Amino acid sequence: MTKALDGVRVLDFTHVQSGPTCTQLLAWFGADVIKVERPGSGDITRGQLQDIPKVDSLYFTMLNHNKRSITLDTKNPKGKEVLTALIRTCDVLVENFGPGVLDRMGFTWEKIQEINPRMIVASIKGFGPGPYEDCKVYENVAQCTGGAASTTGFRDGLPLVTGAQIGDSGTGLHLALGIVTALYQRHHTGRGQRVTAAMQDGVLNLCRVKLRDQQRLAHGPLKEYSQFGEGIEFGEAVPRAGNDSGGGQPGRILKCKGWEQDPNAYIYVITQAPVWEKICDVIGETGWKTHPDYATPPARLSRLNEIFARIEQWTMTKTKFEVMEILNADDIPCGPILSMKELAEDQSLRATGTIVEVDHPTRGKYLSVGNPIKLSDSPTEVKRSPLLGEHTDEILRDVLGYSDAHVAEIHDSGATTPPRKQAAE
Ligand code: COA
Repeated sequence: MTKALDGVRVLDFTHVQSGPTCTQLLAWFGADVIKVERPGSGDITRGQLQDIPKVDSLYFTMLNHNKRSITLDTKNPKGKEVLTALIRTCDVLVENFGPGVLDRMGFTWEKIQEINPRMIVASIKGFGPGPYEDCKVYENVAQCTGGAASTTGFRDGLPLVTGAQIGDSGTGLHLALGIVTALYQRHHTGRGQRVTAAMQDGVLNLCRVKLRDQQRLAHGPLKEYSQFGEGIEFGEAVPRAGNDSGGGQPGRILKCKGWEQDPNAYIYVITQAPVWEKICDVIGETGWKTHPDYATPPARLSRLNEIFARIEQWTMTKTKFEVMEILNADDIPCGPILSMKELAEDQSLRATGTIVEVDHPTRGKYLSVGNPIKLSDSPTEVKRSPLLGEHTDEILRDVLGYSDAHVAEIHDSGATTPPRKQAAE
């Protein structure tokens, strides 16, 4: 069976998290992804957060599946020669270097176009053009500058960053969409183009409901925020809303049986208007179905704290899974707070390939998140990440057609590390 991106060759100049998530997706869809890494050290994440000494970290392995690795010193003249040859033969170059790095290497957009006018050059930077365009950025900086931190957390607490890597993995996803879109356009135009995704923009895109609320604020208080029911005035900017639902359907995180010991014995419950009467039946408040203070969504808005406290009295008598079963039988939207341990052990996620077990030559078996996007004609088979420079010779010979003598010349120049020497190191 062929894969969706069979025949697409990607020159992967990415490192850390944002860029690698993008190229891993392309590899999962069938692209031949050639990861270019600095001889000796490689992607910095290989050695970061190592849980087993001298073994590629989970940080690296979980972001670089299905890729090949070539070591190349791109500041070495022979390295530049190899890079030029790779640009000539690849369809897409993806990079998330600091601002100006690719230009300083001597590979400007103009130069790349000259070498290969069909090349799509895709970049992630922290910021788009503007006052911060020259700044280096990591995940939490993007969350802070893209609107997520100012709107996450509780009103009376600090701004909060979230565990979901919306700045890195989120922007990687945005970039991947840009790349396949540019590949599609190239079918018609025959030309490559630049694709850029700034982390601030990606985070803001994911926070668009908060920009919505910022504008609603000009026309009155945000009535679905609990602070409205608490009689606390709104300021000029969208406040942090704790666990209030971000949509028009009020929701909260509620305690379940065992919450005193288990930090994850909670469930999110949404009081969706069409199922209000069923909620009243389940919690034993049948009078609320017709009482004018509770019967309609607008009437409930100023009483949400009281309503959710009453629902919580009921959820505290059940485990989160019992609540899930009872409420879902009545189509009442809810979801248990699942810990990473529970997710790792979830057999249904294993069955769909959303969580996969991968075998690695130096690490052994480990769990990873598989491809969350399922294509019926292009199923993903997750293959282990490459060792540093594992495919250097293979790429020089098979992709670039270099002879043995030419490969030896490249190694002798110091532009690459021969795989055997690399393994010994
Ligand atoms: N051969 C030779 N030199 C190489 C090389 C190779 N194969 N790969 C990288 N380098 C060099 C670069 O040329 C650069 O040198 P220069 O500064 O002398 O021009 C140097 O490595 C540093 O690159 P840089 O990307 O700036 O790395 P950094 O570790 O200083 O910064 C980031 C890391 C993530 C902060 C930065 O890359 C960045 O802001 N990226 C864009 C935003 C982003 O993706 N952030 C999220 C990362 S998860």
